[in-house]
Amino acid sequence: MLSQKVEDALNQQIAMEGNASQKYLAMANWCDTKALSGCAQFFYKHAEEERMHMLKLLHYVNDAGGNAIIPAVDQPSANFDDVQVVFETAYSHEQKVSQSIDDLVELSETEKDKQTANFLQWYVDEQHEEEALYRTLIDRIKLIGLQGRGLYFIDNEVATISAANAAAEAVK
Ligand code: FEO
Repeated sequence: MLSQKVEDALNQQIAMEGNASQKYLAMANWCDTKALSGCAQFFYKHAEEERMHMLKLLHYVNDAGGNAIIPAVDQPSANFDDVQVVFETAYSHEQKVSQSIDDLVELSETEKDKQTANFLQWYVDEQHEEEALYRTLIDRIKLIGLQGRGLYFIDNEVATISAANAAAEAVK
């Protein structure tokens, strides 16, 4: 049984994951319009993953006897200065999500809700992986640079890293 505090916090997390999905969809869309198909695919996939994160929380709340709330979605930013800014914005958002998950774990422990704390461990691990992935991608973008054919190589590099990451996920 969820305490009201934990249920409310889980519903806020549902909203955060839903909004993350929209943000990454807007980033995918921006990349698509700049002919950055590798980056676009990366963000389309990430948008789907965030929706899955939202649904996983939604089912957990309902299965635990609470009431999941479907969130209103905020209009995401549609314009970015360049592709490095896109990835840095996404990374910054992931850091906020990680902090929010950590706060949720702390709340569950304070409320002596071991089941929720245990359930959230999956999100703790997921955030760790996502942050590491974004750091790798941003480092690679900085290394290649945005000048000349840089964008072409960045787009290929993102596609390669993204595919390697998906393959690693598949064998887990
Ligand atoms: Fe589900 Fe990466 O936040």
